[in-house]
Amino acid sequence: MMAVYAHAINFVVLCGFTLLYGVVMDHTSKNLNHTCSENPSDHSANCSYRGLTSVPRNLSHDVRSLNVSDNNIFMLLDKSFVNYTQLETLDASYNSMYLIENETFHALLLLKVLMLDHNNISVLPISLLEKNCHLYLLSLYHNKLKRIPLIFGNNLQTTYSAKNGEDACGCKNLSRFYLAFNEVRLLEKGDFVALRNCSFDRFDLNHNDIKSLPRAVFTDLPAVHLLINYISLVQFQADSFLGNKAIIQVTITASGIRSIVPMNTSEIPRDLFPGITKLYLSRNELITIPKYALDGFEKLQVLDIGRNLLSSLYNGSFCGLKSLINLNLSVNKITSLPRGSFACAEKLESINLSLNDIAVLDPQWFDGSHSLSTLRLYESNIHDIKNIPWNTTNLQTLILAFNNLNSVNNNTFVGLKNLKCLDLTRNHNLVDISVDAFEETSSLEKIIMTDLVKFTMTGSFSNMHQLVFLDMSYLSSRLEINSRGQFSHTSALRTLNLSSTYIKAEDLVQFKSNGSLFSGLVSLHTLKLQKNLFYDFHHVPNAFTPLWNLHELDLTDCRIPQIDSGIFRNLTSLTDLLLAKNLIKIIPAKAFQDLQNLRNLNLTSNYITVIEKQLFSRTSSLQYLYLQNNQISTIDSFTLLPTSLKVLIIANNPFTCTCQLAWFREWLDKVNTTIDKRSEIRCSSTSFKSLRNQTIWSFHPKDYCGVNIYLIVGVSLAIVTVLSLSILTYQKRWWLNHKLFLLKLAIIGYQEITENQVPEDYEYQLNLMFREDDEWWINDCMKPFLQGRMPHLEHIVFGDSGLHPGSFYLNAIYDVIENSYKTVLLLSNQSVEDTWFMTKLRMAVEHMNDTKLEKVILIFLEDIDDDNLPYLVRLLLSRNKPYLLWVFDDEDGQELFWAKFEKNMRANREMNNVIPV
Ligand SMILES: *[C@@H]1O[C@H](CO)[C@@H](O)[C@H](O)[C@H]1NC(C)=O
Ligand SMILES: *[C@@H]1O[C@H](CO)[C@@H](O)[C@H](O)[C@H]1NC(C)=O
Ligand SMILES: *[C@@H]1O[C@H](CO)[C@@H](O)[C@H](O)[C@H]1NC(C)=O
Ligand SMILES: *[C@@H]1O[C@H](CO)[C@@H](O)[C@H](O)[C@H]1NC(C)=O
Ligand SMILES: *[C@@H]1O[C@H](CO)[C@@H](O)[C@H](O)[C@H]1NC(C)=O
Ligand SMILES: *[C@@H]1O[C@H](CO)[C@@H](O)[C@H](O)[C@H]1NC(C)=O
Ligand SMILES: *[C@@H]1O[C@H](CO)[C@@H](O)[C@H](O)[C@H]1NC(C)=O
Repeated sequence: MMAVYAHAINFVVLCGFTLLYGVVMDHTSKNLNHTCSENPSDHSANCSYRGLTSVPRNLSHDVRSLNVSDNNIFMLLDKSFVNYTQLETLDASYNSMYLIENETFHALLLLKVLMLDHNNISVLPISLLEKNCHLYLLSLYHNKLKRIPLIFGNNLQTTYSAKNGEDACGCKNLSRFYLAFNEVRLLEKGDFVALRNCSFDRFDLNHNDIKSLPRAVFTDLPAVHLLINYISLVQFQADSFLGNKAIIQVTITASGIRSIVPMNTSEIPRDLFPGITKLYLSRNELITIPKYALDGFEKLQVLDIGRNLLSSLYNGSFCGLKSLINLNLSVNKITSLPRGSFACAEKLESINLSLNDIAVLDPQWFDGSHSLSTLRLYESNIHDIKNIPWNTTNLQTLILAFNNLNSVNNNTFVGLKNLKCLDLTRNHNLVDISVDAFEETSSLEKIIMTDLVKFTMTGSFSNMHQLVFLDMSYLSSRLEINSRGQFSHTSALRTLNLSSTYIKAEDLVQFKSNGSLFSGLVSLHTLKLQKNLFYDFHHVPNAFTPLWNLHELDLTDCRIPQIDSGIFRNLTSLTDLLLAKNLIKIIPAKAFQDLQNLRNLNLTSNYITVIEKQLFSRTSSLQYLYLQNNQISTIDSFTLLPTSLKVLIIANNPFTCTCQLAWFREWLDKVNTTIDKRSEIRCSSTSFKSLRNQTIWSFHPKDYCGVNIYLIVGVSLAIVTVLSLSILTYQKRWWLNHKLFLLKLAIIGYQEITENQVPEDYEYQLNLMFREDDEWWINDCMKPFLQGRMPHLEHIVFGDSGLHPGSFYLNAIYDVIENSYKTVLLLSNQSVEDTWFMTKLRMAVEHMNDTKLEKVILIFLEDIDDDNLPYLVRLLLSRNKPYLLWVFDDEDGQELFWAKFEKNMRANREMNNVIPV
């Protein structure tokens, strides 16, 4: 039964639909599809571009959003929407509407957005929108309205509508009201009465034909932002805004205003003064500003009179503007101003006089402007500044960029005791900046003087204790540096830009003393030296050593051919080192050894052929390494690439894809590092034939070089070592036992050897074995300790340098182990992977086994995973405890360490367990 009923309804709806469809067809052009597309899920219907002449009647009754724009609808009738009571959004723009009946929208109690723009509407009925309490946006632009439409009920009634309560609420929620591009010529006070209880964010009357704004016309307009741009005003009458407190911002730009007519404030009660805080009058035709022009605008904070034809002002032009903070007078024709032009506006903080035609700037213009902190005079054709003291003692920012200043001397800035920022960029005639030019302005924090023609550093900056930022980049000739100590007391400077100043490497160090130009810059964070001429860079290894706070060093495009291994010494804070576009071929292995905070290294576009194995051994923070466009053909096995690396670019290098590169090729597959520009990493013509010009990714070492060729190399080396060692031990067995015997005899007779050996019995009292990379620990920690606490040890072997010269390496090692009272080995993650180091360790352990004395101390510089420890070491540690763990950053821990070490040094105890080797 239900099913049959439902079918019946379906049938009715379908019939109605077909019927209507037919009707609509008859009235309109034949090649359009007249059916609206309805979307039931969001209750919308799109009927635009359907050639409709009336609102369709066949739509679902619960439609909430209806678009009938771009049709040929002429009229909206009272009945047009009676069935669409759920409508919230209605777009009827771009039609030919000229008539809308007075009750058309009365059923649409939920309507929020109504678009009626681009029609032919010239009048609208009074009660049109009086029921639409939820209306939020109303657009009526591009119509033919001659007056402000009265559509929210009878304006005379609204005065007592509060009494009736209900009805006229059409604009209660209306926030945006667009009336631009109509034909409104006349505005009258009564036009806005009906809107009195509304509140608009924007009320837009742009592009109308309004010719005047009568006194107090806006009294009842409750809009925050009023736009009346592009109208035909000739006079701006200050009294137009009397009585209005709602309007905060007014823009009347490009409206042909030629004069401002002040109001006679003495006759007007103060509570009628306008509440406007921002007034934009740019792009008008004002020639001058009369005295007291805007008197009464007591709340005005921002006044923009830019892009007018102003050539003169009075010193009373801005009187009455008690709150004015920001004044824009840019792009006018001002050549000169009266003394104290702005003194009236006592709160004025910022004046923009850019793009005027000021030949000679006179500081007296600003006399009395005690709050002035920013003065912009950008591109104003200034060639001279009168040598008269400035009276604006609070001025902090002075922009003089893009002018024609001839000179700046000790008189130019007299009075500016609080000046913080001075911009002299691009004054092409400015070749004369005297030695004491900045003497009067020692408060300066920022000096920008890029793009000058000539400049000589005469030590002017050395006493500027406050200076934080100095930019002298893009000088047209070589920066001259004529004395020492340019920055000796510039201790606050954080950014120094000397890019493209034609300086040479020799300029970075000072005459005779060979000290660095940068001495004294203890706070320097960023040093930009791009595009200079550092051919002799390797001759100035001291240039940067004073800059231990430096974070960024930019040496891009400086023609650097060669780098001294000490040049970046002491730059322990450096995070960004930019060396791209130079001529560098080789970087010494130790060049980056102090850069433990380096994060970003750009070596793009150099001629680098080799990456030293240990180059990155100390840059443990390196995250971004850019090596593209170099001449790298191979990367040696076990080259140290930091695990911190996030991004590596090595594209465009002539890689030789042979087995020598196998290790690196496999490293590329293993790491988490992002390898960018992958498709540009190619095998060069020196590669295996089938790989030439292929990407490196088509090189699979297993296919070409057998299984892990480098592993085999490593393993066989180990085997050879062990073999040669065994032979050695075998050969020396008798001699060894004999010596041991004699030793026992000499010291303790036939008793068990216990704690009776003394260091003096040995040729060396201490033998330190370590990998070259760990030498810093010996220098920084061990040596000071030995000097301080164990000065009696006279014969100490420090690594390989203490070995007997001239003998076979293995022999020399064996000799020193044997003849040392104690042998200390430094273990780190890197050292346990070093074949030679492990050989030494094995020899030491074997020797210990033979002597059965605890002659070996292992010092762990860091925690090493058990898996990474060779079996031999684990075995040794499990049975004996001849090891110490160094603790960083913990003084107590270090004290304990040294105490244990001292104890260990006291005797060679007998071993608990012998290791089966
Ligand atoms: C007209 O448009 C509707 C909705 O987009 C569609 O369902 C119908 O098939 C179209 N009719 C023709 C004749 O193209
Ligand atoms: C409104 O809908 C009813 C029922 O569907 C219909 O009879 C009536 O003609 C519709 N009115 C208009 C003006 O579309
Ligand atoms: C709409 O206009 C008609 C005739 O012009 C008039 O009778 C009716 O009262 C008006 N309705 C309203 C709400 O003003
Ligand atoms: C600066 O102006 C104030 C008031 O206008 C005046 O009293 C003072 O003498 C002036 N100072 C100089 C150095 O001109
Ligand atoms: C500025 O320098 C000139 C000469 O260089 C000197 O005569 C004059 O006293 C200086 N003025 C000030 C204010 O230091
Ligand atoms: C290196 O930096 C230290 C501070 O870390 C500083 O005291 C020292 O003067 C610098 N060395 C040179 C040669 O400037
Ligand atoms: C490295 O420096 C070059 C030259 O300044 C620049 O073009 C490139 O973008 C830099 N590379 C990266 C990844 O920042």
